[in-house]
Amino acid sequence: MNRIAIFASGKGSNAEALCTHFSNHPDYKIELILCDRLDAGVYDVARNFKVPVISITRGFNDGKYLTAVLKENKIDFVLLAGYLRLVPSEVIAAYENKILNIHPALLPDFGGKGMYGEKVHAAVIAADKSETGFTIHIVNAVYDEGKIIFQEKIKVPQGISASDLQMLVNKEEHRLYPAIAEKYFDSVNQKS
Ligand code: GRF
Repeated sequence: MNRIAIFASGKGSNAEALCTHFSNHPDYKIELILCDRLDAGVYDVARNFKVPVISITRGFNDGKYLTAVLKENKIDFVLLAGYLRLVPSEVIAAYENKILNIHPALLPDFGGKGMYGEKVHAAVIAADKSETGFTIHIVNAVYDEGKIIFQEKIKVPQGISASDLQMLVNKEEHRLYPAIAEKYFDSVNQKS
């Protein structure tokens, strides 16, 4: 069994899609959720799926501590799902090519520090883009800059609001992130 940890900061809708997908999966299991905020919706997701949560409101910057937590829990892979902090370099070194992130735009556009949530979609609309989407990439030490493994393009409907565009993109993220992550982990396992 491959053991997966999710890092999240927000409402946890992607975490929920991941927990749903990997429930009763023969090869992969969501073992742990780490959350850097006390008021995040992802705690409800964890409760519903009976996944233990560790609050890292203080430890999020401490690479040694986070690596130790992941190792103690025998975690094989990490999925960022709406996680807003930079992953410390110790964790990236310990889990090289084994951490994925999802970003709600077509990187390298509309990414980087501070580009999250509705702000991303408002920027896409302000730039008058006809296409947006989401990106799944390997996590390295810079926000949103690791190797891209998957992008899904989505048409921007004329006159749509940022919050509606966010909902539209989110829905597609939920549909595809779990399966793309699984396929990527399978390919990593085949190589090792
Ligand atoms: C998603 O749009 C994801 O692309 C980004 O943050 C949002 C997460 O929302 N990284 P949620 O917490 O999964 O609902």
